[in-house]
Amino acid sequence: MALSPAALPSGGLPSELVEHINRPTIRAAGLPNEAYTSEAFLMLERERLFNATWTCIGHACTVPAPGDVRPVDFLGQPMLMVRDRDGEVRVFHNVCSHRGNQLVREPCRFPARIRCPYHAWTYGLDGRLEGTPHIGGPGRHENEGFDRGAHGLKAIRAAVWMDLVFVNLSGDAPPFERHIEPLANRLHGFTDSDQYERMRPAATHGRFELEFGGNWKLVIENNLESYHLPFVHPELNARSRLEDHYHFYGGDLFAGQGSNLYQPGAGDNAAAFHRFEGWPDRISEYPTLFPNVFIGVHYDHVWSLMLFPLSPDRTREYWQVYYVGDTADDPSHDAARETSMVGWRNIFIEDMGVVEGMQRGRSSPAFRGGVFSGVMDEPTHHFHKWVANRLAR
Ligand code: FES
Ligand SMILES: [Fe+2]
Repeated sequence: MALSPAALPSGGLPSELVEHINRPTIRAAGLPNEAYTSEAFLMLERERLFNATWTCIGHACTVPAPGDVRPVDFLGQPMLMVRDRDGEVRVFHNVCSHRGNQLVREPCRFPARIRCPYHAWTYGLDGRLEGTPHIGGPGRHENEGFDRGAHGLKAIRAAVWMDLVFVNLSGDAPPFERHIEPLANRLHGFTDSDQYERMRPAATHGRFELEFGGNWKLVIENNLESYHLPFVHPELNARSRLEDHYHFYGGDLFAGQGSNLYQPGAGDNAAAFHRFEGWPDRISEYPTLFPNVFIGVHYDHVWSLMLFPLSPDRTREYWQVYYVGDTADDPSHDAARETSMVGWRNIFIEDMGVVEGMQRGRSSPAFRGGVFSGVMDEPTHHFHKWVANRLAR
């Protein structure tokens, strides 16, 4: 079913299309082209998919020390990640309470307070408004009738899990602990507390960013299935074949793929990485946590990837890897960390070609949502239903 773009802004997908998407996989329709090309659709997604739930906006390790701040722009919404004096990560709207200047433009460190570049009002790392120079006239830093206590930074509901910083902008999603519980349970061999504490961000070769010329949903869809493995990732497939993979689902929260035949890919040094106890040697799992996180769990390293939609046809990926104990920063593991990071980056670059190809295909009037394999594309269809049911008119 084709939609005119004008049909979308007024409140989402027509109910008959949603019904078609909700059919059993082999008979289901996919999301229409406009869901991948329309600015209005992306704005609807911002309200109903991203802001309504817990969305990831960063890795906590990118603000490592108290006073570190990092501005984040998520679909035009300026936010600020802050590491406070107690070492906790907080998130605020990145806007000065005075005249609405964007408070912080670049990642930086404020030893004590955050200073607005416009009229130099200052805020504590807890968001409290502390300084209002000359507000009452030259040399008078108070103004009768002005209550500083009422004009601190506006906090955003936030939570940190597996070093990922999540926010709920609508403020009414269920508590984060309840929200994440099904995925925490699935990864319990890893997320039980002492494993967790051993996870450290790699000091070198720990992160990369990639920009895709495709809609964010195409990046997610491609991550969800292993069907493309032999054709897009022949090298990876030689180590962990299509038939060694399985799919899994976690209701409204996640879906993904796993392998029963994980073999470390970091060359001769691979065996030297310390291991996360409690995670089986042979199993690697790649859950996609809706809406914008992709996680890879292996016995010797863990990574997470966050997606930022930039526009209907552009998406940026932020990848961050963690190792156990000193294998995260020991110089003698530097080469192994590099091999591992380059290997993963190459896999995502291989994916880029098909994501961008699918985006170009979304301009074809001959494509109307496509069809799904009832076996191999089930996680993709699961995600289409997740999107469609939230964007139903
Ligand atoms: S806008 Fe920030 S101090 Fe005036
Ligand atoms: Fe892939």
